Amino acid sequence: ARPTVVTMPGDGIGNQVLPQAIRVLEAVGFEANYVHADIGWECWCNEGNALPDRTIQLLRKHKLGLFGAITSKPKKAADAELKPELRGKGLSYFSPIVTMRQLFNLDVCMRPCLSFPGNPLNFIRQTTCGGFEEPQVDVVVFRQNTEGLYAGVEWTNPPENVRTALASHKKFAAFANTPGEELAVSVRIITKKNAQRICEAAFKHAKKYRYKNVTICEKPNVLRETSGMMEEVAKQVQKQYPEIALWSTNIDAQTMWLTKNPEEYGVIVASNLFGDVISDAFAGLVGGLGFAASGNIGDEVAVFEPTHGSAPKYAELNPSIVNPIAMILSAAMMLDHIGESEKADRIRKAIADVVKEGKVRTYDMMRIAGGPKSLAQGAANTVQI
Ligand code: NAI
Ligand code: MG
Repeated sequence: ARPTVVTMPGDGIGNQVLPQAIRVLEAVGFEANYVHADIGWECWCNEGNALPDRTIQLLRKHKLGLFGAITSKPKKAADAELKPELRGKGLSYFSPIVTMRQLFNLDVCMRPCLSFPGNPLNFIRQTTCGGFEEPQVDVVVFRQNTEGLYAGVEWTNPPENVRTALASHKKFAAFANTPGEELAVSVRIITKKNAQRICEAAFKHAKKYRYKNVTICEKPNVLRETSGMMEEVAKQVQKQYPEIALWSTNIDAQTMWLTKNPEEYGVIVASNLFGDVISDAFAGLVGGLGFAASGNIGDEVAVFEPTHGSAPKYAELNPSIVNPIAMILSAAMMLDHIGESEKADRIRKAIADVVKEGKVRTYDMMRIAGGPKSLAQGAANTVQI
């Protein structure tokens, strides 16, 4: 049966890149129905809900989504930009993509970082003999997507029971007495079940695509309980994959090492915040956010999105200068997910060819004095199949 894809362009450049991905899906002969769904800042301002129920229903029904990007703003702006009649009703903004991940338990986030030869943004390293070399990066980050520090369990001026819990631990007794608004708490939660699921997904992928190593990237020497659990689970899971080495790195050291020997890493697995950080860091080696695709994958629903945001300052510019590659690669990941890997490979090959050929360059791939606003109109950005 023809699949139906729920398309959620969201805000800003999400509206520019998502239609390009659909053009490419059509060009490779992927036969699907597309149904539009609202999400993002405009929904928040007009409806007081950045992820309307009708969008949730569509995802529940069709189980496959393509998402562009949304704008999120800090608390004060979120209150101020709400439609006047919705103000003062106790509505509070929460990121719809984070909500979506939790609601549908899209707990496995997969973020490939692959360098395309010929990309002028590829990381170049100086060799010890004074020359330069361009390491070929092929890393896939598996980020736990629903808990960790992004579980959304946090307070400014925490309630009495949280203060009591703090006070019961003698190390934190002083924090418990910090007056009202002067105390903010965000909780880092790791469950063994989800640690297990993300580690298993990472090893399974490593095996399928023949990566030689999986790196658990945490900080178990300091975050002894949460990172400690992640590392322990990774060790247990590795036992079923004797042919794949397990490396363990600390998140801080890893951000340094990745410019030293990025080509040596294969699959990286991490909790939510660390996975978010390390995937952007690796993305920087292969061209930045314009090249960074991702999949949010649950047992039933899966949503694919570029990792970049809505880049509001570029939303008004000529659409042909923002980079649609991250979005198009996300659409290719969607094809892999539903067993259409041959079409996905053709898309990746087309992107590689276009990047290598060098005739088409989006503004992020050029060094432009005065920034993109000084760009002449019309640099075409479509990928030809
Ligand atoms: P951003 O990812 O929107 O932009 C950062 C910079 O990266 C931009 O200024 C631009 O130079 C570059 N960039 C991003 N995507 C690009 C593309 N496709 N082509 C060329 N260059 C690109 O992050 P920023 O500026 O921190 O946040 C803007 C808004 O997006 C905020 O409201 C933020 O909350 C939201 N955001 C949403 C995300 C999502 O929807 N998943 C993720 C990250 C941020
Ligand atoms: Mg991020």
